[in-house]
Amino acid sequence: MITDPGRTPPSVELHVHVEGTLEPELIMELAGRNHVELPFRDLDDLRARYAFDDLPHFLALYYANMAVLRTADDFAAMTRAYLERAAVGGVRHVELFVDPQAHVARGVALEAVVDGVAGALGDTAPGLGITTGLIACFLRDRPADEALDVLRALLAAGAPLLGVGLDSAEVGHPPGAFGEVFALAAEAGLRRVAHAGEEGPPAYVWEALDVLGAERIDHGIRSLEDPALVERLVRDAVPLTVCPLSNVRLRCVDDLGAHPLPEMLRRGLRVSIHSDDPAYFGGYLDDNYRAVTAALGLSRDELARLARHGVDAAFVSPARAAELHAGIDAWRGAG
Ligand code: ADE
Ligand code: ZN
Repeated sequence: MITDPGRTPPSVELHVHVEGTLEPELIMELAGRNHVELPFRDLDDLRARYAFDDLPHFLALYYANMAVLRTADDFAAMTRAYLERAAVGGVRHVELFVDPQAHVARGVALEAVVDGVAGALGDTAPGLGITTGLIACFLRDRPADEALDVLRALLAAGAPLLGVGLDSAEVGHPPGAFGEVFALAAEAGLRRVAHAGEEGPPAYVWEALDVLGAERIDHGIRSLEDPALVERLVRDAVPLTVCPLSNVRLRCVDDLGAHPLPEMLRRGLRVSIHSDDPAYFGGYLDDNYRAVTAALGLSRDELARLARHGVDAAFVSPARAAELHAGIDAWRGAG
């Protein structure tokens, strides 16, 4: 619940999976509308499953719940609900992840996914004062050939993409296998990001940079284990999109008080904070800001610095970056 939006800066959301914004109530509503049988009795029974041992445990529920998404309208409803909630929490720019393969693999047309999500970004975000971009992520635990087919289909369909990403179960699935996919994306003029160093080792972050040409690393918290990698990330000012509540809920860190965020800032890393899968991890972007403020005692200046890093990492024009920076500076000055 939002108690005081003034206590969190106007922000940029660069790491949120649209399917991870699918709230339990909407799951029930869409299941009813689409006559989808769910493997739980009711809302309470569903909510009881939101305690996770690790990333693969969470992903099992995340993918299972997608069964209720059938039509372009379903994808649009989910996207609109997210944008409305984000706006209330002070989000001014969103680069939204979507997992097209997860839907195509269960028989949903690629057009329904793209038309629904991109359509809602186009018709709802401007009225909320939010600028947006869409990033199609590929599932690293499925074959790279399948990812290549989906990317070719997205390009052939003229999908309005800002970029591509890499997500899903990390350990045992190093980024290197997706070199050809990311090379094609680069050729097509798309931006490139990749999840790495969430549960997986620093070697995966190196691969994401060197083989995929990733311009941002999603999570990257395990980078601290490798001083040479930290040096590289600092030297090249590589942005890391860190998701504090996610890291706790997926047990990548023991609790928020033990989160490496302050150490990452001390080491000069370009860290910004984000929400990952807010419907599953206990909070949206403003909730993440509030949670780290409480647990780590961050000052208003430090929150503004995190928010500014988000703007610096965003794939926006210099003019839009200047507007977003100005909003953050005004917020800091008003404190
Ligand atoms: N897909 C959705 N959330 C994810 C996460 N935290 N890590 C990897 N893949 C994901
Ligand atoms: Zn993520």
